[in-house]
Amino acid sequence: MKILVTGGTGFIGSHTCVELLESGYDVVIIDNLSNSKKEVVDYIKQITNKKISFYEQDVCNKDSLRNIFKEHSIDAIIHFAGYKAVGESVENPLMYYRNNIDSTLSLLEVANEFNVKKIVFSSSATVYGNPKTLPIREDFPLSTTNPYGSTKLIIEGILRDLYKSDNDWSIALLRYFNPIGAHKSGLIGENPNGIPNNLMPYIIKVATKELDCLGIFGNDYNTHDGTGVRDYIHVVDLAKGHVKAIEKILKGTGCDAYNLGTGNGYSVLDLVNTFVKVNNVDVKYKFKDRRAGDIDACYADPSYAYKELNWKAEKGIEEMCKDAYNFIKKQ
Ligand code: UFG
Repeated sequence: MKILVTGGTGFIGSHTCVELLESGYDVVIIDNLSNSKKEVVDYIKQITNKKISFYEQDVCNKDSLRNIFKEHSIDAIIHFAGYKAVGESVENPLMYYRNNIDSTLSLLEVANEFNVKKIVFSSSATVYGNPKTLPIREDFPLSTTNPYGSTKLIIEGILRDLYKSDNDWSIALLRYFNPIGAHKSGLIGENPNGIPNNLMPYIIKVATKELDCLGIFGNDYNTHDGTGVRDYIHVVDLAKGHVKAIEKILKGTGCDAYNLGTGNGYSVLDLVNTFVKVNNVDVKYKFKDRRAGDIDACYADPSYAYKELNWKAEKGIEEMCKDAYNFIKKQ
């Protein structure tokens, strides 16, 4: 079985390619390297000792896509490619709508031409907006607070409409909570350029002394210690969820959404303290004002994914902190 992975050299994409290859799938990656490096392809090969096909191309380019579908007999697609920075999307909404929606439409149109009607889409818990109760179930109302989130919600809608119009499609919408950690090998992981937006990359840059001090956004949230609570999930667990989703969509047809989270909520301070303890490092922090758009707490009810995909997260927060730091130390 051959899986086309768009954005396959990114953080979640690369870990998913490893899990797919180790489960016996063939992998074809298309990535324009706008937020990743070509070496990742070699690292995936090194970890798995398997061959992969890699195309440095943009998913918006339909002719390039057609050539890939002509060259390979694709059985299913996992669509990761897209811009993903919340703040940047607020500053440059047109860039986000153009890129994320255009690439998806091109991909779906070409897939349809080649009668490939099985796709896993990389969505996000951001589509739940500010949930009224916790844990979050898939049937909760959907809304977003920024253009990045809106692109995820719009694409979910496009995929649902597509299934309604043609019941031969088989679609899984995977709503990720907060992926952190890295592959045990230390070869692939997350290392954003510049000043990170997300918590774990920021903690790491303070631990390695690249940055001075972590700013914790708010200590007056309605949580056990006042700092924001999130459902951090090990990226390898998340990657395994994609393999399970592929198994599911290859079996039948439909369009359904699944939460990929652990079901556990940890605060910013919980994560910082665990990171300090397991890695034996210092992480200086100070409290700052709340960040616009942030919510008190967000964690999944992952039981539907367990029931339907036979998947659940297995790795704990200590392992996430160790593996994330191990990757950075090896860079
Ligand atoms: N935080 C800090 N300081 C920082 C960065 C983050 O205190 O420097 C706090 C935030 O306020 C929040 C928590 O750490 O309480 C997690 O923040 P992240 O930016 O790491 O993650 P978010 O939950 O804000 O957003 C992430 C992804 C989004 C995705 C969303 C889904 O970045 O792409 O999860 O819920 F949409």
